[in-house]
Amino acid sequence: MAGKGKLIGIGVGPGDTELLTLKAAKVLKTVPVVFSPKSSKEKESIALSIVRPVLEERKDYKRLMLVEPIFPMIEDKKELEKIWNSAAEMIAQYLDSGRDVAFITLGDTSIFSTYSYVQKRLMGRYEIETIPGITSFTACAAARNKALVEQNDILTIVPKIDDRLEQVLEYSDSVVLMKASRNTSELEETIEAKNRPKEIYSVQNCTRENEKIIEGFSNEKPYLTTTIIKFEDD
Ligand SMILES: C[S@@+](CC[C@H](N)C(=O)[O-])C[C@H]1O[C@@H](n2cnc3c(N)ncnc32)[C@H](O)[C@@H]1O
Repeated sequence: MAGKGKLIGIGVGPGDTELLTLKAAKVLKTVPVVFSPKSSKEKESIALSIVRPVLEERKDYKRLMLVEPIFPMIEDKKELEKIWNSAAEMIAQYLDSGRDVAFITLGDTSIFSTYSYVQKRLMGRYEIETIPGITSFTACAAARNKALVEQNDILTIVPKIDDRLEQVLEYSDSVVLMKASRNTSELEETIEAKNRPKEIYSVQNCTRENEKIIEGFSNEKPYLTTTIIKFEDD
């Protein structure tokens, strides 16, 4: 790996630039290439909007290489494979030229992040460092000023409900529903009807300027919406 650049995956936290770690900010102040995937041509990535103030302070900002490939939000596995392969090869070209690349990702790097697909493809070929970030659901619990789990509680993180719902509701003490914009009203009714005392709240755009905490499920569901169900039986 001598002479090659290093891939640095950076979790940039849930939204507030002040929640970037010192380590992430340190890398972002000097790294020559920042890789920031976005879901469509028109929209800036949320991760980039979080780190932009740090990048803009750089004296060499104009020379910084900001690469913004499109990673569309699709579920077709074959198409996704192609997109991740080509993203990994694009990064490999920068690394082969001896430049370090920072791959920025919302929240934490290990929680439903596109970074993980690129990380897997480049593992063993290049040096890789992963800098964790504050994940959205712990930020949501902080916004509510309440612990997610205590003592022997079991926390379950759910990206999309399937036929395991009954088991999830039976055996978890707290449930985090990420990607809440996919929740259907049937799902919400099933959870509400579960015969266990519980607190349900949703947080939209946590730690961002337009943060909103809603009791129960939220009718409006912007992309950055997380719902937390905390069972309160003794
Ligand atoms: C693709 S996942 C990325 C998760 C991210 N890696 C993390 O650690 O939070 C996107 C989902 O994370 C949740 N999310 C991320 N940032 C959020 C925020 N600021 N407020 C509320 N939910 C957020 C939402 O449920 C959203 O649909």
